[in-house]
Amino acid sequence: MKVLVVGGGGREHALAWKLHGEGAEILAAPGNPGIGTLGTCLAASATDIAALATIARRERVAFTMVGPEGPLAAGLVDHFRREGLAAFGPTQGAAQVEASKRFSKALMVEAGVPTARATTHTDVPGAIRAAHALGAPVVIKASGLAAGKGVVVAMTLPDAEAAIRMMLEGNAFGDAGHEVLVEEFMAGEELSLFALCDGQRALPMIGVQDHKRLLQGDEGPNTGGMGAYAPVSLSTRALVADAEQRVFAPMLAAMAAHGVPFTGLLYAGLMLTADGIKVVEFNCRFGDPETQAILPLLDSSLGPLLEAVAVGDGLAGAAPLKWRPAASVCTVLAAGSYPEKGDTGTPIALPELPDGVLAFHAGTRLGADGRLETAGGRVLNLVATASTLREAQARSAEWAARVTFAGRQFRPDIGWRELARAGAS
Ligand code: AMP
Ligand code: GLY
Repeated sequence: MKVLVVGGGGREHALAWKLHGEGAEILAAPGNPGIGTLGTCLAASATDIAALATIARRERVAFTMVGPEGPLAAGLVDHFRREGLAAFGPTQGAAQVEASKRFSKALMVEAGVPTARATTHTDVPGAIRAAHALGAPVVIKASGLAAGKGVVVAMTLPDAEAAIRMMLEGNAFGDAGHEVLVEEFMAGEELSLFALCDGQRALPMIGVQDHKRLLQGDEGPNTGGMGAYAPVSLSTRALVADAEQRVFAPMLAAMAAHGVPFTGLLYAGLMLTADGIKVVEFNCRFGDPETQAILPLLDSSLGPLLEAVAVGDGLAGAAPLKWRPAASVCTVLAAGSYPEKGDTGTPIALPELPDGVLAFHAGTRLGADGRLETAGGRVLNLVATASTLREAQARSAEWAARVTFAGRQFRPDIGWRELARAGAS
């Protein structure tokens, strides 16, 4: 089976690694040096839909696996389907579940999916009144895609007002921020839950926990994700069954009823509140870095399932996914200037890794001399699997420390909440 992977980050390297391990031939556009060790990287941007379709047709791939949200929100799947090409991911209409927080919230309310109360505004006074009505803390969100940075959890009303003004008047996120959601604050632990979806059915994965803050102990600014681990003991079978019933099933039904059935990977960002699970957000694609942490634990073959969704055969009769009874920790190595900026051209020393430790590339490139160097904010993902989470964390952090480049930052404490729970119980 030949697969075209669209994208060039750690998530795409992990997907390519899993599919390659199942015997697939890997093409990637644009890929990265890590993916290049598994297959062929082609010089096309992840958003150049016409060029990607040309590659998929010329190479006669079985299907195209789309990593990032950008090309999905831009209509890659619609374009491919019109040309008779199979692609894994939602159509442009269905990708609105991530690309428009207003669309997503309206569907959740209609479908009765548990979520925080929110109102949508394009004017500053209306948004400020809504924030006062909810009271602090309150959450202000840019409606459109803002690369994970369009959310401000305001601890005070003046902070909420400043965030509203920054988005609506200050043009902080361009068009993505010209509409804001003012949302009730939810307290609890967060959990990412992914499900493969064929428009009607959802096949859930195991829960995984991301670490969005830059610094140890969940301090410092928000980032795209500094690490992830699985399994999460809070993510019990009962919780996943509850999410299937009260989140995935009604959401898929509502999307189908609106003529935008969701095919692809539906990512539910859940808050585990005192009142049960509530949806923080949906994403229309695999999470990054959660994917890097969970795919090494997946025992079942992924390729046939992705293909069944991509070609339209669907998931009827698909067996529940099987997972290895082990723990996994993904530690992100970021550039010194992250999350404000990325870094380019700094040499990276990447040692040989032992069994059970993987390095998924994110922002890397090969320099003029053929040596590995930085090319982005999040640079590498060091994933260790072991029989216990404590050991997986120690190995992931140990090998993260052995990868060196100037300015390197990483959190040695990925999974700390789970270890604290284990210690407390
Ligand atoms: P989002 O981009 O919607 O996932 O939001 C980014 C982060 O902001 C989430 O992962 C949460 O940590 C936080 N957040 C978003 N909405 C809420 C909410 N209603 N209550 C508390 N925290 C939130
Ligand atoms: N890890 C968060 C995301 O992929 O959006």
